[in-house]
Amino acid sequence: MIRPASATAQTERGSQTASSGRGVSPASDDTVVARAIDLTKTYGERDSQVVALDHVNVEFTRGEMTAIMGPSGSGKSTLMHCMAGLDQPTSGKVVVEGLEVSSMNQRQLTKLRREQIGFIFQSFNLVPTLTAEENILLPLQIAKRPIDRAWFDKVVDVVGLRPRLTHRPSQLSGGQQQRVACARAIMARPAVIFADEPTGNLDSRSSREVLGFLKDSVREYGQTIVMVTHDPRAASYADRVLVLADGRITRDLKHPSYEEILDVFATEGDEDAGVGAADTAETTEDRA
Ligand SMILES: Nc1ncnc2c1ncn2[C@@H]1O[C@H](COP(=O)(O)OP(=O)(O)O)[C@@H](O)[C@H]1O
Ligand SMILES: [Mg+2]
Repeated sequence: MIRPASATAQTERGSQTASSGRGVSPASDDTVVARAIDLTKTYGERDSQVVALDHVNVEFTRGEMTAIMGPSGSGKSTLMHCMAGLDQPTSGKVVVEGLEVSSMNQRQLTKLRREQIGFIFQSFNLVPTLTAEENILLPLQIAKRPIDRAWFDKVVDVVGLRPRLTHRPSQLSGGQQQRVACARAIMARPAVIFADEPTGNLDSRSSREVLGFLKDSVREYGQTIVMVTHDPRAASYADRVLVLADGRITRDLKHPSYEEILDVFATEGDEDAGVGAADTAETTEDRA
């Protein structure tokens, strides 16, 4: 239903990369879109030092939706920001589409973020003076890239924004604003979309709509998504769930059910995950 008009997203991206003239041939295994290698991020100095990421190694597979969970302060946002080139790691590497993000200069980073990476923020980050349509098209216009009208129409229909295209963010509900932000991220057909608590400011109905749309984009045209969430229901939409604690990956679950996701937080006694640890701990013991 939301296939790009001309070819598959992947073929398009391949030709874009080939013609982009960066002179770096993606050497990585094609199933891996993005990887962190021994990624460390510390903030502050000596006694006030905080280790936000502690030697993280992870690969994100093409066409998968990964959810990242973990208590507040466990390093989830730092991981997303380092992966997307919005923040510099202290040591280690980030590689996206075979290109080493962590060693890029500002100009290369800008190009990478325009072409390969989409980012969805909890707070939507729309331009308040622009309409929904203008917001969706802004990144392509800044990059002076052609606008595929057929693709735009499909994306707009899938996120259900057709009647809202001339509205400004202040005239839209939170859910509608986040759907504009999703459409904006998807419009450029990035290799990977990072989303930091995309449903964190939404009511449950809007959350379901946004998650359903993200999931559709994975299933129907192989979009790769890495999404931070506190919500086990949201995480259950994912193909894979990673759990972070104190800057390290402590769990890596493939296709977990909602109950399995709840169990992880029950056994780790993690109240911060907002899962109701006390209730579920009892259930787990009963089962054991
Ligand atoms: N700019 C910053 N300066 C200092 N410490 C920071 C900064 N950003 C994050 N931290 C610290 O790094 C740790 C991880 O933060 P963050 O990645 O935001 O966690 P999460 O998204 O899981 O809540 C926390 O202890 C946080 O206080
Ligand atoms: Mg965060």
